Amino acid sequence: MMSVGPRIFREVMGRLAGGVTVVTALDGDRRARGFTATAVCSVSLDPPLVLVCVGREAHTPSAIRHSGRYALNFLCSDDAATSDRFATEGSKFDGIEWHTAPAGSPLLPGILAWVECEVEQDVEAGDHTVFIGRVTAAAIGRTDRDPLVHFGGRYHTVAAMDP
Ligand SMILES: Cc1cc2nc3c(=O)[nH]c(=O)nc-3n(C[C@H](O)[C@H](O)[C@H](O)COP(=O)(O)O)c2cc1C
Repeated sequence: MMSVGPRIFREVMGRLAGGVTVVTALDGDRRARGFTATAVCSVSLDPPLVLVCVGREAHTPSAIRHSGRYALNFLCSDDAATSDRFATEGSKFDGIEWHTAPAGSPLLPGILAWVECEVEQDVEAGDHTVFIGRVTAAAIGRTDRDPLVHFGGRYHTVAAMDP
């Protein structure tokens, strides 16, 4: 069987443009936790389900497991620094005035939209865990901004095509 190494796999998958999100949850001390993710997806409309794939080494999965829920925060094109901050270890929420979704998951200010969900299933898949969540709340945020998109290892935004 032909094997595909991590470098080429990462490079090829990096050619699939992805909307950038920050996945958030409260830990056991009700502290906000979060990390940047593009491996998120809408799964089902009825019932409404989403998924996120989280690396086993990441810290946020234990918060997701503890609270049993998470929120997806959809970043806008102004938010590249926020994306980098949430992809790096440290005091990610310092100086950020976050608020809460109905069931308590942290929401970042100025986002395009968000969903909050309850974990229905967590599936171990290779070196990641797939958290499938049933959406319990969702809302549109800023409508005057474009999305933050990750493609080819860099940040972009979108341009509408002529009809
Ligand atoms: C643009 C971008 C997309 C990312 N997408 C994911 C992803 O989908 N899943 C994942 O586990 N990590 C992803 N990461 C890496 C995590 O954000 C990073 O490992 C983070 O430090 C994990 O935080 P935690 O250990 O505090 O949970 C991405 C990073 C960047 C910059």
